Amino acid sequence: MTDATLIDGKAFSEKLVERVAERAAELSAIIGRPPALAVVLVGDNAASAVYVRNKIERTTAAGMRSVEHRLDADTGQAELLALIDELNNDDGIDGILVQLPLPDQIDEDAVINAITPDKDVDGFHVVNAGRLATGQDSLVPCTPFGCLLLLQDHLGDLSGLNAVVVGRSNIVGKPMAQLLLQQSCTVTIAHSRTRDLAALCATADILVAAVGRPEMITGDFVKPGATVIDVGINRVPAPERGEGKFRLTGDVDFDSAAAVAGAITPVPGGVGPMTIACLLRNTLVAAARRFDATIGEI
Ligand code: GUN
Repeated sequence: MTDATLIDGKAFSEKLVERVAERAAELSAIIGRPPALAVVLVGDNAASAVYVRNKIERTTAAGMRSVEHRLDADTGQAELLALIDELNNDDGIDGILVQLPLPDQIDEDAVINAITPDKDVDGFHVVNAGRLATGQDSLVPCTPFGCLLLLQDHLGDLSGLNAVVVGRSNIVGKPMAQLLLQQSCTVTIAHSRTRDLAALCATADILVAAVGRPEMITGDFVKPGATVIDVGINRVPAPERGEGKFRLTGDVDFDSAAAVAGAITPVPGGVGPMTIACLLRNTLVAAARRFDATIGEI
């Protein structure tokens, strides 16, 4: 039984992509070519291959150019760093994305920090993390930025609200907390060692779940009327659909949380589509900044 308003990330992301495509056409006319994203995939992780294919298709559909680089699973760090150096120095490339996770022989931090910060469309480089933390213009990680856009669309001004972010990853939890702090929320980051997580979460006007544990956040974690953002995308067995079948579920137990929340994002169709939309937005922003071009509001 769903009492909460459903936050439709799919519909919101489609409108955002339309605006990005319009601005990409505008920028293409100014710089004489479409904004260009290089996507690097190392190895044969099946989930990563699907994500990369989606990113490439959506980039092209928005009128931008995407260039794919596929490297073998046994690629060494030096070879990958050499490719990044080439892309950094390629004037025809505006954004570089290296799909994570990388194989064990490669140091992820070294790779992320080898990307020139102005082309770091994932916003993972330590310079972009530092710029975000100090309130300077930066490329912002796509998933938390997408969550913020959904929150602002639903709630308007977030100032003074209590926000609890469950999860402390560099990709989601930490930048999410920075973005909410910038909006004058009172922010707590919770994690696997947090004591009495349910009671803490139940103080949140905004509850962001980014733990990677299927349906861990249940209705008793939710303050009545709170806005719940579910970042999790977990593939779990679904024997009710037949032998060997799976379904996608979030980090939030949707039914019990929706019975208490004021609004909630579904999985799929909530945060997921926002991530790619924000990647396209970051690619456009990176291209415009590199050419010092002024384009309209996105
Ligand atoms: N792997 C999982 N999420 C992401 C992401 O947002 N960017 C990259 N580069 N890799 C990922």
